[in-house]
Amino acid sequence: MSSTAEELYRPGLEGIIAGETSVSTVEQDDLAYRGYTIEDLSKHASFEEVAYLLLYDDLPTQSQLDGFVAQINAHRELPGPVVDTLRAIPQNVNGMDMLRTAVSMLGHFDPIAGEGHDQDVERAIHVLAAVPTMIATRLRLGAGQDPVSPKPGLSHAGQFLYQAFGSEPTALHEKVLDLTLTLYAEHEYNASAFAARVCTSTLSDFYSAIVSGIGTLKGPLHGGANEAAMEMISRFGSGPEAEAWAHHAIANKEKIMGFGHRVYKNGDHRARILEPYTRQLGEAKGEQFRVDVYDAIKDTMWNEKKIYPNVDYPCGLAYFFMDLPIDVYTPLFVASRVTGWAAHIIEQRSNNRLIRPRSRYVGPAIRPYKPVSER
Ligand code: CMC
Repeated sequence: MSSTAEELYRPGLEGIIAGETSVSTVEQDDLAYRGYTIEDLSKHASFEEVAYLLLYDDLPTQSQLDGFVAQINAHRELPGPVVDTLRAIPQNVNGMDMLRTAVSMLGHFDPIAGEGHDQDVERAIHVLAAVPTMIATRLRLGAGQDPVSPKPGLSHAGQFLYQAFGSEPTALHEKVLDLTLTLYAEHEYNASAFAARVCTSTLSDFYSAIVSGIGTLKGPLHGGANEAAMEMISRFGSGPEAEAWAHHAIANKEKIMGFGHRVYKNGDHRARILEPYTRQLGEAKGEQFRVDVYDAIKDTMWNEKKIYPNVDYPCGLAYFFMDLPIDVYTPLFVASRVTGWAAHIIEQRSNNRLIRPRSRYVGPAIRPYKPVSER
């Protein structure tokens, strides 16, 4: 390895520019999808508009949006063998493992013929429509209930909640799910998007790249943090109890899930946008003590470590207040992030070069082989 290559080494690729993108910018001062700030999008746009923006490079006109929504609706029902697979997967299997298998299975029944940019966009819509149905179907089967068919006229967020619970959601629940889908949709060269790009760069297929993203998002240092954060919050019955634990955990150098970020050092824009809604949901649910636990851990992290929460911290508690089982929180992250992954897959294909970095070798020097009898 040349000294130039060694100089470029950063553990975890921290700060390394690993490629170019026009999908989003992740900066200390702003997060923007294709030039639209997350503040503007979360205030004014539906998730469907955001998904269109990511897949087609700009916001839709009304007729483009209507056509896009119709296309999503046309792909909501799962192929029979995928439903059979959901029935066959044991109930105790992790939600992300279920989704990894179900999306892979969906690829075997791909209704889109041929390869190319337009086919990739269509496949993205196919997966975007199917993933919420997979999560809802799995929830229903786990509760011993029949799957619920999609109901025409509902928003993407409302549709998932309808299919999961069998009744139309409150306006607040629909709004918050829509918002979290917007906030989770895209985040530049995060680990799962990078995994999807690495897979794509070998000229592998669309579904393999999405499955690479799912497997990578699962980990608690990435998307799995929303579940891990809620598992933590749910352990405490009061703010003081949580605060005492947080002091102890920090003193023991434990990682507190839902805090910190590789890029953001002044706080995560998405967490700031979502937090007021989490508080509102807590009030609506009459569970202020959980908000006290949330605040106690957040304040202790700030006072002792000066580390801010990331989006997964308020999101875990928001989903909990919406009566969603913890096992579906990271799958719901997938339901959103498939749009960002697809945008990266399409972008990677449009200007592909195999992603194949080097490593610094730290093993033994070249040594002589000895026959088994001499070892
Ligand atoms: N709890 C306690 N200490 C932390 C945390 C945390 N959550 N995050 C960072 N630190 C400390 C860390 O111990 C280290 O301190 P020191 O220098 O004294 O050893 C310092 O901050 C730098 O941490 P790092 O782990 O080297 O930073 P990184 O850039 O490699 O990691 C991270 C970023 C997100 C993996 C990390 O902050 C973390 O593990 N957070 C918890 C998991 C989490 O919430 N992940 C979600 C990420 S954002 C959205 C998403 O992808 O879903």
